[in-house]
Amino acid sequence: MHSPVFPLPRPQLQRMSKKPDHKREPSTLPRHVAVVMDGNGRWAQRRFLPRSSGHKFGVDALKKIVRHCAEIGVAHLTVFAFSSENWTRPAEEVQTLMDLFVKALQRESPELAKQGVRLRVVGDLSAFSDEMRGLIAQSEALTRDNTTLVLNVALNYGGRWDMLQAAQALAATGEVPSAEGIARHLALAHSPDPDLLIRTGGEHRISNFMLWQLAYTELYFTDILWPDFSPEAFDAALTDFAHRQRRFGGVPEAKSRAAA
Ligand code: FPP
Repeated sequence: MHSPVFPLPRPQLQRMSKKPDHKREPSTLPRHVAVVMDGNGRWAQRRFLPRSSGHKFGVDALKKIVRHCAEIGVAHLTVFAFSSENWTRPAEEVQTLMDLFVKALQRESPELAKQGVRLRVVGDLSAFSDEMRGLIAQSEALTRDNTTLVLNVALNYGGRWDMLQAAQALAATGEVPSAEGIARHLALAHSPDPDLLIRTGGEHRISNFMLWQLAYTELYFTDILWPDFSPEAFDAALTDFAHRQRRFGGVPEAKSRAAA
């Protein structure tokens, strides 16, 4: 038996190995994963279905990913469910999405509670009905003591909105402005900055999501449309993440030792 002259580059090894890397090496598991769930409309249109049914299947995909994150030990999952800009969609589609959120809050909260998931809804909730705000408060209260996974659902959320409201809240305290002060007033201040951002649906952009917190986040883009995004596809993103070298603006440890 000959061993190969050159070792295979990592991505090929990765495809050949059966187990996702985070199962072998828990330290490579991201603590916080943020997701832009894109592609529901195209998924539906390709099946000659109305766009709204893409969102319904999107909820099913989300349920599987939440359960998976709770099982494998991801501590924070943040999903972009409705952006500040999504109000410009056709009224019927906006209504479908609102109905889906209400139904999901009513139906899924007990299940989330069972799975140890704590639900937090982040965004400018002033735009929503009293009924919706009441349901959100109830679901958050029901899951308040859970510690397995924090599920942040971004609703009527935009990164610019968040930075502006944080700056305004900080100014109202009279404190001297600082990066740490702004971070403390962001809607997602209770979660660490994401280690990994996944965007499905083939577009390569941030779309006004978590602009402050994504400064050093690893980005992962996939063509898979959100309703098809499975736990296996999530694991592939984690495997890719496990091979990233994070530097946070510094230099790799070996180089920094050599320079000393
Ligand atoms: C983007 O796909 C998706 C959205 C704007 C909505 C995402 C919402 C869900 C998956 C439902 C989440 C539900 C709960 C309960 C949190 P798109 O419509 O822009 O797709 P396209 O790019 O193919 O048109």
